[in-house]
Amino acid sequence: MKKKKIIVTGCCGFIGFSLSMKLLSNKNTQIIGVDTINDYYDVNLKKQRLKLLKKNENFKFKRVDIKNYSSLKNIFLNKKIDTVYNFAAQAGVQYSIKNPKKYMDSNCIGFFNVLELSRLSKVKVIFYASSSSVYGDSKKFPVEENFDLKPKNFYGYSKKSNEEMADIYSRYYNIKTIGLRFFTVFGPWGRPDLVINKLIESYYKNKIFYLNNFGRHVRDFTYIDDVIKIILKIYKNKKHIQNNDIFNICGSQPISLLYLVKLFRNNVGKSKIFKRPFQKGDILKSYGSNKKLVKVLGKLKFTNFDEGFMTTLKWYKKYNKLN
Ligand SMILES: NC(=O)c1ccc[n+]([C@@H]2O[C@H](COP(=O)([O-])OP(=O)(O)OC[C@H]3O[C@@H](n4cnc5c(N)ncnc54)[C@H](O)[C@@H]3O)[C@@H](O)[C@H]2O)c1
Repeated sequence: MKKKKIIVTGCCGFIGFSLSMKLLSNKNTQIIGVDTINDYYDVNLKKQRLKLLKKNENFKFKRVDIKNYSSLKNIFLNKKIDTVYNFAAQAGVQYSIKNPKKYMDSNCIGFFNVLELSRLSKVKVIFYASSSSVYGDSKKFPVEENFDLKPKNFYGYSKKSNEEMADIYSRYYNIKTIGLRFFTVFGPWGRPDLVINKLIESYYKNKIFYLNNFGRHVRDFTYIDDVIKIILKIYKNKKHIQNNDIFNICGSQPISLLYLVKLFRNNVGKSKIFKRPFQKGDILKSYGSNKKLVKVLGKLKFTNFDEGFMTTLKWYKKYNKLN
């Protein structure tokens, strides 16, 4: 049987890695993983993820920057790629305020290169990472896919631009582009720059945890395994999905940061917390509707937040060899 060829960009990142591991459990899948392994957060964590991926003979790695068209071209052309998952991007809201150019390069130019090379190499399906940040500060919750988009920061703008580029490509070149608006994904192998991992790390490394907006922020935390299951289900149901359809990928379970801190204190211990005011560019509340997703995929089961948190904690301790 001929193996299905897939490109996963951002394969050393949290979501790209988690999806690649799952896809590789199918022996008829070959992955070309692309990543620059940038130093936005702990490079060692990315290298550890890569080490696991490389154990599988169906995985090939290319250390390439997606903003570099000519390097990326060699990966795409004449390879008969079935599906592309674009998860390479400069993530993070606060970082985008100081470094907008990184977002222009990786998220806008990089994504354009992925789209254009997919067109030239006749890729049929592209999944790409968008974000709940495209909504900005909504007044109505839960946010639905057809709400107005008012990104508050350059990160959110870069994701909105991805959705618009994908829309044009899907309409003119008959490529099925599927946008995934992720809502604060967490779990084992998660990103150290996101709030759950920051809280865990501050406790074990005896550092201060900065609780922004005095803990009043609300996030629709979504567990990584649920996210991966949803992506695979969308792929399976792709025939019933329109070109450039976009989905909120969320459990629709908003949790306040104050709740997270309490959960941590009750199960682990007291961290050194420094409460501070709202930080410019931050989103006050993220809470998505997953009705559209359920309509297309049928009933979905989501991991309970407390359970997901405990599994993440367990992973952190094992990864860092703590008792
Ligand atoms: N994790 C979340 O909660 C979340 C929420 C909303 C949206 N997203 C989006 O989902 C995608 C994946 O997120 P993640 O959490 O896995 O982030 P991540 O930072 O862990 O992974 C991104 C990976 O892309 C790589 N990369 C960055 N720029 C690159 C470039 N120009 N060329 C090649 N590789 C490059 C990085 O080295 C990194 O390994 C991103 O687009 C992110 O914006 C994530």
